[in-house]
Amino acid sequence: MLWSWQSIRARRTVATGAVAALVCVVVSIMFLFFAGNKEADTSQNRVTDAWNRVVPLIRQGPLPPVLQKGEVEAIQVVDEHGHVVAATRNLAGKPPIATFRAVRTQVSTARMLCPPTGLQGCMTVASYKVFQPQGPWLLYIAVPVVPWYGQTTSLLLAVGVSVLVTTMMTGWTYRDLTKVLGPVNAIRAELAEITATDLVRRVPVPAKYEEIRYLAETVNDTLDRLDEAYTRQRRFTADASHDLRTPITAMRTQVEEALLHPHDTDWPRMAEAVLAGVDRLQRLVTDLLTLAQLDARTSLHRDPTDLRRLVETELERRTHQKRIVKEMPESVFIDCDRLRIARLLGNLLDNAERHAASQITVRVRGDRSSATLEVIDDGAGIAPEDRRVVFDRFTRLDAAYARDANGTGLGLAIAREIATAHGGTLTIEDSERGARFVLRLPAHDLQAPG
Ligand SMILES: Nc1ncnc2c1ncn2[C@@H]1O[C@H](COP(=O)(O)OP(=O)(O)OP(=O)(O)O)[C@@H](O)[C@H]1O
Ligand SMILES: [Mg+2]
Repeated sequence: MLWSWQSIRARRTVATGAVAALVCVVVSIMFLFFAGNKEADTSQNRVTDAWNRVVPLIRQGPLPPVLQKGEVEAIQVVDEHGHVVAATRNLAGKPPIATFRAVRTQVSTARMLCPPTGLQGCMTVASYKVFQPQGPWLLYIAVPVVPWYGQTTSLLLAVGVSVLVTTMMTGWTYRDLTKVLGPVNAIRAELAEITATDLVRRVPVPAKYEEIRYLAETVNDTLDRLDEAYTRQRRFTADASHDLRTPITAMRTQVEEALLHPHDTDWPRMAEAVLAGVDRLQRLVTDLLTLAQLDARTSLHRDPTDLRRLVETELERRTHQKRIVKEMPESVFIDCDRLRIARLLGNLLDNAERHAASQITVRVRGDRSSATLEVIDDGAGIAPEDRRVVFDRFTRLDAAYARDANGTGLGLAIAREIATAHGGTLTIEDSERGARFVLRLPAHDLQAPG
């Protein structure tokens, strides 16, 4: 994959590197200050040691002209006239390295000289007054200047460790992100190759990295549903085309036959047969249109409605071949598109009329949160294993053909879509005899609207 500043990997790697570098710089500065202070203390101790060593020699004598250096760079003793009385070997025969002295009551003072006379490099020179009977002498002790970071090795150590830590942190982050993002890239690459006609493929599910595993599983679940929906859609299109073509072919054959034998044809009967075909086509196209509208989730024209009154009206409007038993003790209010709910009820009643032996029971009940409408018949019922498929589009059970060959198999599919669009459910539930369809819808309010 190309390196891009927009990528998580680039940003996280650079951010981790920057934070690691910042932390290293802060810690290094603290460490170097500490090391510098320690080195300055050590340097001061060396000067004090030299002072302790030389002052007794000046006071008690004899003062040798050549002094031992010890751990300092140079020592020089100057008498009250400014003549060098004694010095370390590196200052032998050289003039005083400095001329400054502690003022007034002070006994010592120090200055940085770059370089002091007779020496090389920058030195911290301490000047001590040593009181002698003939006048104050000066003791100069020179030590190399201690930088703020102490020794160069401390500086190199701090820089080395900082570079190492920053590089390791950056490298680890880059490697970890590359490992973590690998499965994401694999999912992306697989998804990019999946097309609408190739929905059987699935993205790889990594064994590690729980979050990415969940992502891959969710993507695969979505692909499952898409595949299912696509297959359903294809089957629906094929079934719809078939069901539309059948009456058209039948009508065409009838008309062609009639035209071949115009004198032997019973034209009124032929017209009736063609009309029946047109009826069926019209019903099919209307059902398909209704389903398309429900699929497109076009908005419903909802009104607060008394479900009991709506059911009463629908029952009065229809003619019944079977006995209707109404169990609707009270008004139940719902928010609904009245035409759609009347259509749903009409579909259930059509089926019940077709399958009932003698009686259809219509029941309406309600509680605070939901309204229930049941349509129960005393026919053969629907076996539990068929209760899911009968809601599929163009599904008709064998028994239905025997009772009425004209059904389209779209009635229950439309009914369920209407229920879903209202936020409700339509199911087939157990009953003592026959089929029991149960519609549940959210209640509007138990109080009747004014
Ligand atoms: N009350 C019922 N009793 C027994 N079987 C039923 C009942 N209602 C529906 N079915 C079965 O469910 C199938 C699907 O019903 P659906 O209403 O979708 O289609 P249809 O009634 O055959 O045709 P359409 O309603 O489009 O005229 C029916 O063909 C029938 O086999
Ligand atoms: Mg039906």
